[in-house]
Amino acid sequence: MRVSTAPEHQDEARFADARTRVEELRAKIEYHGYRYHVLGEPEVSDHDYDVLSRDLASLEKEYPELITPDSPTQRVGAAPSELFAPVTHSSRLLSLDNAFDEADLDAWYARVKKGVGREPGVVVEPKIDGLSVAVVYEKGRLTRGATRGDGARGEDVTANIRTLRGVPAKLRTEAPPAWLEVRGEVFFRLEDFERMNAELGEAGKPLFANPRNAAAGHLRQKDPPNRATAARPLSIYFHGLVKVEGKKLDSYAEVLEYLRTVGLRVHPDAAVCADLAAGKKAVAAIQERRHALDHEIDGVVVKVDDFAAQNELGATSKAPRWAIAYKFPAEEQTTRLNDIQVNVGRTGAITPFAVLEPVRVGGVTIGMATLHNAQEVERKGVLIGDTVVVRRAGEVIPEVVAPIPSLRKGDERKFEMPTHCPACGTELVRPEGEAVTRCPSYACPAQVHGRIVHFASRGAMEIDHLGESTVEALLERKLIGDVGDVFGLEKEDLATLPGFKDKSIKNLLDAIEGAKARPIDRLLVGLGIRHVGGTAAIRIANGIPSMEGIAAASVEELAAVDGVGTVIAQAVHEYFHRQDSQALVAKLREAGVRRTGERKKAEGH
Ligand code: IVH
Repeated sequence: MRVSTAPEHQDEARFADARTRVEELRAKIEYHGYRYHVLGEPEVSDHDYDVLSRDLASLEKEYPELITPDSPTQRVGAAPSELFAPVTHSSRLLSLDNAFDEADLDAWYARVKKGVGREPGVVVEPKIDGLSVAVVYEKGRLTRGATRGDGARGEDVTANIRTLRGVPAKLRTEAPPAWLEVRGEVFFRLEDFERMNAELGEAGKPLFANPRNAAAGHLRQKDPPNRATAARPLSIYFHGLVKVEGKKLDSYAEVLEYLRTVGLRVHPDAAVCADLAAGKKAVAAIQERRHALDHEIDGVVVKVDDFAAQNELGATSKAPRWAIAYKFPAEEQTTRLNDIQVNVGRTGAITPFAVLEPVRVGGVTIGMATLHNAQEVERKGVLIGDTVVVRRAGEVIPEVVAPIPSLRKGDERKFEMPTHCPACGTELVRPEGEAVTRCPSYACPAQVHGRIVHFASRGAMEIDHLGESTVEALLERKLIGDVGDVFGLEKEDLATLPGFKDKSIKNLLDAIEGAKARPIDRLLVGLGIRHVGGTAAIRIANGIPSMEGIAAASVEELAAVDGVGTVIAQAVHEYFHRQDSQALVAKLREAGVRRTGERKKAEGH
């Protein structure tokens, strides 16, 4: 409908519409971010969340006047000059005393009882081995994030803190306190850490020794956070109140509740307990769940709940008397490195792994550990036959930490990269300028297996029930030869697989059928094109919303898509110009896999 014929009026109306839409989108993004990061109860899929963020970014690009510093899009990107200025904390950030067994814990509580003349309640919280930060909100707005430093003075890392999800730019409250200063722990989730190290390993770059080092590296990076770092963000849990003005909080339990309501993430496993006896049960429960958590913990922190009691107890120059860190035993062991063998990944990358004399670490027997790449083997200086320190952290693949050279007998030998692929016998290559040795054969069975498993995986086509062993069984029986064949599988085929009964057959067939309707960015991820992860795939699908269009696009057309650089454009072009890829795309089309970016029609297929 025409409102006015004068162009400037049309522009004004459009601008007003855009403003309304931008505000709506921001409110939605903040809301869903809160549900996901703070409450842990998302209402929409990651994909729908990404769509909202993308829509907001493109509107802001069109109308830069509408960008505000607290827009969710502005969490990424800041001037480097803002980083690393010294910050004086409003009060010293103390450390914690340690307890290593129950007797230490009892002794601490006995001192507490003596100090306050009663048995106060405690809060038990996982102790994350991350990086301590202090975050300030003034009148509800995030104004500063600083590292702990020496406790009195830290470094200004506001720009990086802003990029953390779970750290809102604005508190979710109508009545924000004049000043709120909280402490939290910044850390890497194990999954993010593993993925990053795997990527670094594949690229032949040095790895991070553990999630804590990785978090430190990321929080203190000088470069402004960019798309790559935002794609694998650091996480945070808040675990302390430094100062609040204009709000009365009488206990740590109240702080936890308050932080949660204003949108600051606190640990979901924090337990409020009536006394130490109840506290010990909570400690045992957390210790039990230790490996079910998505991040590493090195113990629990037990804190006197009541602030009046905390004040009475006070602090030494180093640590408060009202809290104690109860450390869990370390999960390292020594064993013999019997051999180093290699694995062939879906891209043909050859990665060495350690074959160990089986050893129990943290309640689990391990016989294999990752070594990432040949450079890592070299850097760690491990020899076959060495006694090595192995470490297991959570559900993560165990790793070889270091050799113990003093225990060498003289018959240890160096690892040599094989010259031929252990899966298909093809001669291995190491392309000029690359650190990784690869099997160049596209038909290599190990790569075929890896490609299909990747295709069915969660970030891609998400075909439940099609995991490693099922793919292996299907390949062995020649029921499939590539990802395109997955959609042709029938009941009778699956009935030949070990352990497959009516119910499991139906589950897998339903999952395969469901995957046909996945958005095309997921299909793009599933194809395993080099450099094309979730974010790049969404950008490509947004710019060229059909598989045929993408497959036919020139490098220039691909590179012209917003946010797609020439490296990605070249990789995509190269992929679709291989004969086997074209055959695969045709096969997927015939199988009825969705090929356009349009929303799925409600009437179904
Ligand atoms: S409370 C006054 N709670 O552990 C100190 N700290 O070893 C109050 N940490 O510097 C700290 N998880 O960075 C507290 N749930 C938790 C924690 C935690 C990790 C860190 C914190 C502290 C260090 C002491």
